Amino acid sequence: MKFQPSMLVPDFVRTFEPYIPSQPDHVLKQRFGVDHLYRLNNNENPLGPPPAAASILRSMDPMMVSRYPSGDASDLRTKLAHHLDMGPDQIVPGNGATEIIQFVIKAFCESGDNIVTADKTFAVYEWVAEFSGIESRLTPLRDNRFDPKALLSFIDRRTKIVFVCNPNNPTGTYWTLQELDDFMQHVDGRCIVVLDEAYCEFVEEPDFPDGSLLVEKYPNLLVFRTFSKMYALAGLRIGYLIGHPATVYDVCRTRIVYSTNVIAQQAALAALDDKEHITRTRNMVRESRNYLEKEFERLGLPCISGQGNYIVARMPFNDQLAYRMLMKQGMMVRTMTGFRFPNHIRITLHSKPVMQRFINALEHVLDQWSASTRNPV
Ligand SMILES: Cc1ncc(COP(=O)(O)O)c(C=O)c1O
Repeated sequence: MKFQPSMLVPDFVRTFEPYIPSQPDHVLKQRFGVDHLYRLNNNENPLGPPPAAASILRSMDPMMVSRYPSGDASDLRTKLAHHLDMGPDQIVPGNGATEIIQFVIKAFCESGDNIVTADKTFAVYEWVAEFSGIESRLTPLRDNRFDPKALLSFIDRRTKIVFVCNPNNPTGTYWTLQELDDFMQHVDGRCIVVLDEAYCEFVEEPDFPDGSLLVEKYPNLLVFRTFSKMYALAGLRIGYLIGHPATVYDVCRTRIVYSTNVIAQQAALAALDDKEHITRTRNMVRESRNYLEKEFERLGLPCISGQGNYIVARMPFNDQLAYRMLMKQGMMVRTMTGFRFPNHIRITLHSKPVMQRFINALEHVLDQWSASTRNPV
């Protein structure tokens, strides 16, 4: 009998379409005929890693990579624990926060269980659940915010995890400390609540909660953080989870040891000390957000602007078309149909001169589109 791999694939995996990552820049540049591409699609930090981390990377002894890294990023956990005023046994490192989503779903969910999250948020919670055979229940956002009442109403006895993205990617809205605390009270320990704080370092609002301060009070709360965004180490893939020691112990049953590499661990250790980098990045993000908000208004494009290093704009036409037209101008944005925001694009906040170039490119694209609607081919 001829072997057919799909025979072995469970139904819930077979119905799941593989995610196709974007092609490398050199391929895209050739395809779209540009000699420079601004990456405004992945919420990366264009300032690059904090200088202390950059200097560690430059001075690394290549012999280091001939040995396995610390299997549980021991030094990094110790330093994070010191910063967070907790024990190293309350931290789990991962190959990006993305990997930690898998650890948590594997640790707590089995067939028949479900997870609850919002429909317009970081889609990986939903995807990992679905391809693990776990139902994902999605509540609509209310005024672009996670709706605590709707989330609570979706929880049943088979709900194991609720994922809340704070601030939310892509809408930039957040729950205050009071709202988070109320939600945790209502959940009342029935399931795990994951608070994804991938963008917390960008938030300057005084009522924005630090989830790590609540893990003692709520052992069912797990907080995700990453070095990919503010600390600009996305290419090294390193993030971590914070929780109560007993809950972290259970997550550790299903984590992959050695999944954070030796370079990432060293760079993350150095990155943590640089407060100036955070100030510089926040200043850049604030200036560019103010600029883009005004420009979108001038251009008559509604926008969704909140916290984080991104902003969403509604285009007068299809977001895939907008993507292709902007690519021809050397600007790579994120289409938002996959986030259930059809006709919207998300733009990573870059330095002001790059944002000015982006607006020039956008105006050109809007002009081209208006011309084509007047004279359809
Ligand atoms: C809300 C959110 N959580 C987690 C991640 C993943 O971060 P990492 O690069 O650490 O896997 C992202 C990346 O875009 C994100 O937007």
